[in-house]
Amino acid sequence: MNDHIMIFDTTLRDGEQSPGCSMNLEEKLKVAAQLEALGVDVIEAGFAIASEGDFEATTAVAKQCETAIVASLARAAFPDIDRAWAAVRHARRPRIHTFIATSPLHMRAKLNKTPEDVLDAIAASVGRARNLCEDVEWSAEDATRSDPDFLCRAVEIAIKAGATTINLPDTVGYATPETYGAMFRDVINRVPGADKAILSTHCHNDLGLAVANTLAAIMAGARQCEATINGIGERAGNAAIEEIAMAIRVRHDVLPVRTGIVSTEITKASRLVSGITGMAVQANKAIVGANAFAHESGIHQDGMLKDSSTYEIMTPESVGMGATNLVLGKHSGRAAFRQKLAEMGYDLSDNEFGDAFKRFKDLADAKKQVFDEDIVALVDDQVLRG
Ligand code: KIV
Ligand code: ZN
Repeated sequence: MNDHIMIFDTTLRDGEQSPGCSMNLEEKLKVAAQLEALGVDVIEAGFAIASEGDFEATTAVAKQCETAIVASLARAAFPDIDRAWAAVRHARRPRIHTFIATSPLHMRAKLNKTPEDVLDAIAASVGRARNLCEDVEWSAEDATRSDPDFLCRAVEIAIKAGATTINLPDTVGYATPETYGAMFRDVINRVPGADKAILSTHCHNDLGLAVANTLAAIMAGARQCEATINGIGERAGNAAIEEIAMAIRVRHDVLPVRTGIVSTEITKASRLVSGITGMAVQANKAIVGANAFAHESGIHQDGMLKDSSTYEIMTPESVGMGATNLVLGKHSGRAAFRQKLAEMGYDLSDNEFGDAFKRFKDLADAKKQVFDEDIVALVDDQVLRG
C-alpha cells in the first residue's frame, strides 16, 4: 500500500468554526500561504454557501494556491454544490467536498429523512459534484455512530456516483483508537470498490483522542487525514496537524508512513493561526506549546546538558522553534545555574558560585520562575557586597 499520507487542512473551515475564530479574506489568504509552505496536500478554504464573505475568501484562496488542492464544503444539496464549484473552479487543483449524516440520530432528529432518502441524496449530490469536478470527496457525517451495514451501503453508493475520497468523520469525538481503526478495516473489507477511493480520517477531540484515533485509522489503511493547526475546531477541536505529522516522523518505527509536512514550518504556522484567531496555544500543548521544549527540574536539566536526547524525543529546531529552554526555578540544579551564569558572561569563583546558588534557590522558592534580570540583580548585589 502507498505510504504517503495526504494532509487535508481544515483550519480555514472546521477550525474557523471554533467560537470566535472566524477569519476575513486577508487572514485566510495569509494562513493559506503558510499552509502551502508547510506542505499540506489539501486546503479546505471554506463553506462557500455559508456567506458572501466565505464565498469570496474561498474563491481568493483558490486563485492564490499554487500547489495544494483547494476544497469547499457543501451539503448534499445542488445549490451548495454549485456554489462550492463556483468558488473552487479557479483553483489549479479544485475539489468539491460534500457531506450528509448517516447516523440514525442525525438522519431522524436533524435531517428528518429516512435512510433510503439519505442514500438517494448521496447518489444525487455526489453525481452532481462529479459532473462539475474530477476530484470529489464525500463525508459520512457522524460515521462513528452510524450502523456499520448502512455505512457500508452509503460508501458504496458514493463511490459508484464518482467520489474519489471517502471521509469517515468522528464528528462528536466518540470513537476510541480500537473502534475507529476497526471501522476503516470494515469498510475496506466489505465495500466493493473501496480500494479505488482514498479513505480519510476526520477526528474531533471531545475525549482527547483525536490524534490517537487518526493514527489508528492510518494503520488500518486510511491515506488522508483531516486536521487543523493547533487543533482548533468545533467544541474541543479537531486533530492537530503538528501532532500527527511529528508522531509519524518520530515514531516511523511503528507508523511506517510519511507526510509532506515541512516540519520546520510548524511553529510559524502555529503562531500565525493563534495570532489571527486570538486562540492562545496552551503552554503545555504538544509540539508547539511554550513549554514543549522547556525543562525545569535539576535532574532533567543536568541530563539535557549532557545529551539532549535524554529528555527530548525531537529537537525544537526540527519544528522551527529555536532552542531548548532550560527554565530556572526551584527544581533547577547547579549544572543549569552554572550554564546560565556562563551564558550571561559571569565567571565566579567556587565560593562565589556556592553563595550565588544559595541565593538563587531562596529566590526560586519565593518566585515561580527566575528570569535573567533576577540573576543579574542577584549576582551584582553579591559582587557589590564583596
Ligand atoms: O465533523 C464533521 O463531521 C465534519 C464534516 C462536515 C466533514 O466537519
Ligand atoms: Zn468536523
